[in-house]
Amino acid sequence: MTDTTSNKMWGGRFAAGPDAIMEAINASISFDQRMAAQDIAGSRAHAAMLATQNIITDSDADAIGKGLLTVLSEIQSGTFQFSAALEDIHMNVEARLKEVIGEPAGRLHTGRSRNDQVATDFKLWVRDQFDAAESGLLALIQALLGQAEAGAAWVMPGFTHLQTAQPVTWGHHMMAYVEMFGRDLSRMRDARARMNECPLGAAALAGTSFPIDRDMTAHALGFDRPSANSLDAVSDRDFALDFLGSASICAMHLSRFAEELVIWSSAQFRFVTLSDRFSTGSSIMPQKKNPDAAELIRAKIGRIMGANVALMMVMKGLPLAYSKDMQEDKEQVFDAADNLMLALAAMEGMVKDMSANRESLAAAAGSGFSTATDLADWLVRVLGLPFRDAHHITGSLVALAEKNGCDLPDLTLEQMKTAHDGITNDVFDVLGVENSVNSRMSYGGTAPEQVRAQVTRWKGIVG
Ligand code: ARG
Repeated sequence: MTDTTSNKMWGGRFAAGPDAIMEAINASISFDQRMAAQDIAGSRAHAAMLATQNIITDSDADAIGKGLLTVLSEIQSGTFQFSAALEDIHMNVEARLKEVIGEPAGRLHTGRSRNDQVATDFKLWVRDQFDAAESGLLALIQALLGQAEAGAAWVMPGFTHLQTAQPVTWGHHMMAYVEMFGRDLSRMRDARARMNECPLGAAALAGTSFPIDRDMTAHALGFDRPSANSLDAVSDRDFALDFLGSASICAMHLSRFAEELVIWSSAQFRFVTLSDRFSTGSSIMPQKKNPDAAELIRAKIGRIMGANVALMMVMKGLPLAYSKDMQEDKEQVFDAADNLMLALAAMEGMVKDMSANRESLAAAAGSGFSTATDLADWLVRVLGLPFRDAHHITGSLVALAEKNGCDLPDLTLEQMKTAHDGITNDVFDVLGVENSVNSRMSYGGTAPEQVRAQVTRWKGIVG
């Protein structure tokens, strides 16, 4: 449908309304209505400031402030009629305000533009997402700390190249993810602190000749200060990219962990049992219990990183200041934020509910010659051999055990002596996995005592 009347918000110089296709490509109301509460908060702060600065009267500001609350409650209760002809949330709200309070509504847009308005709204929205991600990460870290504390001494195989490398502890493995999600937390906090400058009052691009008080609006909206360059203020989307970048790294961590849970919950590994609450069945194979939540978390990186790349491509090459390209920022961030929060919550639920199968972990920890390094270290420590020689001798014993179809601790002392006649019975002490992990007492190592120290440290950080 083509509207024959020009746009009532900006159509003064237009004789005709937009083509239907123009309206379709131009309108953002279908998605930016998610920023209604932020838009209204920004407008209320702006109106109050205009009155304080005697740019509009107190009674007009009062009418505007109250009217905006009416509009907000209409939106929240679902009775608000959004209109694509009014393009976006900013003009939908202002047009409805005019219907509710009449003439004073027209004074709200004094000394501002939709360019600083949308930047402010979007920043407020993204800031909430940093806070939500922080809560999600904290909850996930708490769940991991619970697992780590319970299983600080449970042995399991540690892998490199997904081949058995050395025994580690369950707690140590859980704490590795605590470190990753802890960095995600700090990235989110850094980015939130960096973005907390208010664009409102930058107006279209150059600032305004009205005597506005930008500190007042900035503080009313919880920003630390107003942004210092009006051209940058309206054309900056770094905060959204910072969010997407941090979200992408976090989603990558979630994906790695999810992959481990998929492997670990398989019949071949049996390292963990996922709860029924976070598993699904198969419609044809009655025995199946599938780790769908983990698989979906593993996949979320695709759309989250996709959003990051998409917005980077939107922003690259844009001349200063605002261009309509920037309207393409929101859907990407909305989708990425929704999916990040869902993935964090699902991971938290899975981690809380899952149980580690101690026997399977321990059995796997002792197989695959996992204590070969301990044997080599013993040859260095006790017999004083150079590490390279010790490595070679150990390798020959691994080959012997492999040939005999047994593990290193199953070799007899006589067999050991064929590789080096200095070897004594004491060597068997270091071939046990418990001793192996207990000996890894270097800072950050896998020894239960080290793991418990890290759990305590993290509890101090996350409360
Ligand atoms: N809907 C627009 C956006 O999301 C708001 C800003 C419009 N500004 C303009 N000069 N047309 O970016």
